[in-house]
Amino acid sequence: MSSAPAPRRSAAQLAAGDVRPSASGMPVVGMVGGGQLSRMTAQAGISLGLSVRVLTRGVADSAAQVVHGPVVGDELSYDDLRAFARACDVVTFDHEHVPPDVLARLAEDGVVLRPDPAALLHAQDKLVMRRRLTELGVPVPRYAPVEDAGEVEAFAAEAGWPVVLKSRRGGYDGKGVWVVAGPGDVPGALAAAGPAYVEEHVALTRELAAVVARSPSGQGVSYPVVETVQSDGVCVEVIAPAPALDGDRAVEAETLALGIASALGVVGLLAVELFETEAGLVVNELAMRPHNSAHWTIEGARTSQFEQHLRAVLDLPLGAPTLTAPTVVMVNVLGPDDPDAPSLGSGLPHVFAKDPAVRVHLYGKTLRAGRKVGHVTALAEAGEDLASVRERARDAAAYLRSEPE
Ligand SMILES: Nc1ncnc2c1ncn2[C@@H]1O[C@H](COP(=O)(O)OP(=O)(O)OP(=O)(O)O)[C@@H](O)[C@H]1O
Ligand SMILES: [Mg+2]
Repeated sequence: MSSAPAPRRSAAQLAAGDVRPSASGMPVVGMVGGGQLSRMTAQAGISLGLSVRVLTRGVADSAAQVVHGPVVGDELSYDDLRAFARACDVVTFDHEHVPPDVLARLAEDGVVLRPDPAALLHAQDKLVMRRRLTELGVPVPRYAPVEDAGEVEAFAAEAGWPVVLKSRRGGYDGKGVWVVAGPGDVPGALAAAGPAYVEEHVALTRELAAVVARSPSGQGVSYPVVETVQSDGVCVEVIAPAPALDGDRAVEAETLALGIASALGVVGLLAVELFETEAGLVVNELAMRPHNSAHWTIEGARTSQFEQHLRAVLDLPLGAPTLTAPTVVMVNVLGPDDPDAPSLGSGLPHVFAKDPAVRVHLYGKTLRAGRKVGHVTALAEAGEDLASVRERARDAAAYLRSEPE
């Protein structure tokens, strides 16, 4: 009598190691937050045969509109997260806002959190991040923790005005950042900031981002370093690869990002926002999730950042991060200032007719002035220069928000 064959294990089970298989045989990735990052991660999960479950505040949220059975709950509450995690093999995040004590309790319960709370803290609390990076010998702006106006002024007396006051937690899109010109502006900024720290105003020549992925087994890959363009603290445009970036500096940025990912034990994506200065690179901040500075990878890299994040959190071998075109430009579509502006979709016929090669991503979000509601990506055609690719992407984004350039 022949012995019974060993139970067959799916590739995903084998590769995922400690990940509990779902009924379908594929792991279930839970993503906390119903924003566009979850929406685009779920989209990447479809082609991998994965189901991405989303914990979201409401069914109208960007990701909730497109995933199967979105779980509606309070994304910051232990009870709601615990219930959500029961049906997930791995839990990851589309934002940094879950309080560290809640994360610690979930980890104690055995919930597989990727990244884990100890790593994520460095993307949640900018002062913790500054201190840790300093310990690691990573260049950061001069900074100091502050509690009152006197301490801000004492710092400015050394570093020079203006200084930059930053909320330790919860900031995004420039909310939580105050450029303080002089002593008269300090009390207002301090009152608005909550727990804060102060740093020097860096004389930057431009902003860069180095996005890497790291898996639990320690494999790391780096996307090409990009230039990011901000307006009023909001990222409006990303150019990949960063134009005319010195080769040694590109290697330095990628090495820095991979080193930080490894030192902090990051699992998943790590975006390192950098300032380029005359004297070299300085780290601005860290994000441990898919990041706006890598939306271009959906069409512009062999493996999109969303698929890469899923591979990493499941400990699957990582995908090639290489470019699919010599130059790629991503421009964010921001909610129009005019409250009576037509819907974004009404601009599509014109945009598609004018440029059949431009790629449009709309997030299904209600329009609010300055809110990120979509993005456009343009890839260089053979022989096309940066100015032309940039114009195609800008033109499409401006038309969608009803503000043709
Ligand atoms: N120390 C600084 N010196 C000069 N400019 C700065 C400084 N800190 C921040 N900025 C400017 O403000 C922008 C937003 O700052 P930061 O990235 O810290 O805030 P955030 O709101 O957390 O951003 P994000 O949306 O990326 O999470 C930066 O991209 C940069 O343009
Ligand atoms: Mg930033």
